[in-house]
Amino acid sequence: MNWETKITKLLDIRYPIIQGGLAHLAYADLAAAVSNAGGLGQVTAMSLKNPELLKEELRKTKAMTKHPFAVNFAIGSHDRPFIPYVEAALEEGMSIATITGGNPKPVFDALEGTGVKIIVLVAAVRQAQKAEELGADAVIVVGQEGGGHLGRDDLGTMVLVPRVVDAVNIPVVASGGIGDGRGLMAALSLGAEGVEMGTRFIAVKECVGANDVYKQSLIDATERDTVVIKRSLGAPARALSNHWTDKILEMEKQQMGYEGLKDYISGYSNKKYIHEGNKDEGYAWAGQVAGLIQDIPTVSELFDKMIGEADQIRKKWQQ
Ligand SMILES: Cc1cc2nc3c(=O)[nH]c(=O)nc-3n(C[C@H](O)[C@H](O)[C@H](O)COP(=O)(O)O)c2cc1C
Repeated sequence: MNWETKITKLLDIRYPIIQGGLAHLAYADLAAAVSNAGGLGQVTAMSLKNPELLKEELRKTKAMTKHPFAVNFAIGSHDRPFIPYVEAALEEGMSIATITGGNPKPVFDALEGTGVKIIVLVAAVRQAQKAEELGADAVIVVGQEGGGHLGRDDLGTMVLVPRVVDAVNIPVVASGGIGDGRGLMAALSLGAEGVEMGTRFIAVKECVGANDVYKQSLIDATERDTVVIKRSLGAPARALSNHWTDKILEMEKQQMGYEGLKDYISGYSNKKYIHEGNKDEGYAWAGQVAGLIQDIPTVSELFDKMIGEADQIRKKWQQ
């Protein structure tokens, strides 16, 4: 079947499926596998220690795929200045950038006149309109079911996506809670031109940075096994529920603030779980869609299954 949408045309990809930024995980192997399967892979920029390492990762990705891929800039949650990373990516021929976690304007300024396509992650109608005003080529709308950092308003994908579709003229990508062909078709029904998936792309063979313990935890988790932490800091984010997140939530109840929480919510504690598989001494981001994950396929197997399911739904609708 023909999978052309405004997003596939804009990004020159076969299927309207984008892999989420995935801090500390989205590197060359995963990005290239997703782009080779017909979606849009992404390399996460700000998890890398310096811009030189980003350049290396982008060179590695280019060697592994001839298809387009994006560079993700999570500009809110790191102390490092992000513009040197944007410049490094430009030097390596970046063609698509996605931005999350802060005011995207400086990135727009840095990319002005370069022809790089810019997609902004948003979690509210106003943010989407702002991104459009700044000149974004598309927005990714993240609902509160999603893994990792979320909007502050607890808005679900089912309502937020059509609200944004009605409020902007640029293509909208739905994200948060999508993990199979049913989710893809639901998103398209809401007026989205494609989907972005984060959690689902962790439980795949090519997400080589994710420890097997993390992948197995995603399989074991039901839809009830995630919690939102960091709400007291104004930066809510969804993680797998464990002793560590219990402790964080308890400290948040006691209003311990950033200083009290910082060791618990640090990148170090994140990596302890996701890289080392130490699930008692760290935390791991994941969305409610963990409840739908039951296997660890290759990216290409995942695409075959998803597109097959979606094609079946389309056929059923045509009857
Ligand atoms: C482990 C993890 C790390 C994430 N890191 C980033 C990131 O660095 N940049 C970004 O734009 N989004 C990040 N996200 C959010 C995803 O891109 C995506 O919006 C979200 O996962 C969608 O919800 P889903 O998990 O239900 O698919 C992350 C999500 C997860 C699960």
